[in-house]
Amino acid sequence: MESQFTTEPLADVTADWLIVGLFAPGEFSREVAALDQSLGGQLMRLKEAGDLTGKLGETLVIPDAPAIAAKRLLLVGLGDPDKPDLRSLRKAFSTAAIQVSTKADLSIACALPEVTDERLSATMIAQEIATSLCVGSVGPGVYHSQPNRHAFSSVTYVLTNEAATDEVRAAVERGNVLGESVNLVRELVNRTAADVYPETFAQRADQLATEFGLSCEILDEIFIRQEKMGSLLGVAQGSDRPPRVVILRYNGAGAGKPVTALVGKGVTFDSGGLSLKPTASMNTMKSDMAGAATVLGTMTAIARLKLPVNVIGACGLAENMISGSAYKLGDVLTARNGTTIEVLNTDAEGRLVLADVLSYIVDQKVDRMIDLATLTGSCVVALGENITGAFTNDQNWCNEVLSAATKAGEQVWQLPMEEEFAEQLKSDVADIKNVGTRWGGASIAAKFLEKFVAEVPWVHLDIAGPSFAEKGSPHQDSGGTGAMLRTLVELLS
Ligand code: BES
Ligand code: MN
Ligand code: ZN
Repeated sequence: MESQFTTEPLADVTADWLIVGLFAPGEFSREVAALDQSLGGQLMRLKEAGDLTGKLGETLVIPDAPAIAAKRLLLVGLGDPDKPDLRSLRKAFSTAAIQVSTKADLSIACALPEVTDERLSATMIAQEIATSLCVGSVGPGVYHSQPNRHAFSSVTYVLTNEAATDEVRAAVERGNVLGESVNLVRELVNRTAADVYPETFAQRADQLATEFGLSCEILDEIFIRQEKMGSLLGVAQGSDRPPRVVILRYNGAGAGKPVTALVGKGVTFDSGGLSLKPTASMNTMKSDMAGAATVLGTMTAIARLKLPVNVIGACGLAENMISGSAYKLGDVLTARNGTTIEVLNTDAEGRLVLADVLSYIVDQKVDRMIDLATLTGSCVVALGENITGAFTNDQNWCNEVLSAATKAGEQVWQLPMEEEFAEQLKSDVADIKNVGTRWGGASIAAKFLEKFVAEVPWVHLDIAGPSFAEKGSPHQDSGGTGAMLRTLVELLS
């Protein structure tokens, strides 16, 4: 969506909703003080009565104030002015957007708050607010027969004269692209496994590639077999849905420049296979393709933003099912790079899918790699639901990813890659087995993947926790979240 801009006083802005952020303690900003004056001091009285605290995410609605042009005013708390950060802005403006998107065809105006903090530029603020409004306006109800959330008919940003620059306007447009890309990831994750399976995921990737100017190659099961991707094929063989590998290419830097690869786990449904999951653990396993969706969303974002980089995006797509043809415990699979793998748990399937895609991408002569995968419950046990686990064979490359995450306001924590975790993967009958002990399971999985990345600098991101919210909260809808897309775009920028 295109945004509009104005430098009018807040009281004069026409819209169905005017969203204004307020910091917790301290004085009103110049613009808010002027708005308060139009409202006859109502805001100050509410503040003194303790009804307007500015606490992060607190909202207060003032409907139908005759003194202002907007039909309704939504005040949202921005928290502590001494430590403003992107995550609190995200929380505040997502909360606001979720609240005001319950009716159709509403026009929104939003004041960009003034922040005097050298760590947070006006453009970063503008970008994040635009992204948050976009993400917050779309709900998880893909299948509601009566939609209960509605995209805004228009969004107007109210800028101070100092902030009314081309840079800030460009940042808002970037933020909109990021928001739409996050929403694409969320939609793919929220759709059921009956809708999104390897073939349909690949078709969608192909459509998006055409729309946004990416090249897209779909490897079908015949090609996958020719490539001897026995590890991925083992996982896929129990399903009626054949596997696919999608390869997206974007050459924004031109020939001869370094190539970054993004590789995503796309298990469109993870039943666990014969090592069947208990029913409750399967409820959310349509989301086991979040890594692949994030790769696809990121590729569309960098193409739309025309970033001067060369990137390959690869999605390994398979469904992990039980049937008479399913792979069995004790089976030995031969991966594309020749490694033989003894399968001792068919629920450790993500690493088997990624193994072959990683080795395929290594042979495409890339300079660095990142994979994204909803790989282990262990990672969620270790870091909780909101923090991504990072694992690497190259500390400098990992540091770049970690610092991009900090800049993008996303939470990532590095976990160990000691050799003792790899020792657990030794097998008596094959080169390696696909599981070790319970302890340190996220690191064991990462050491498994490491066997397929050769010498390429590589970071593995385990997004099992943050990619999907089981429960919604005022600032975040339940379902797919689009976690790590902002970080990847920041990194590639
Ligand atoms: N897709 C799951 C991991 C997962 C768990 C993602 C919870 C999101 C939420 C993965 O394929 C899996 O089943 N991993 C096993 C590995 C184990 C068998 C070594 C796990 O984590 O239990
Ligand atoms: Mn599994
Ligand atoms: Zn899985």
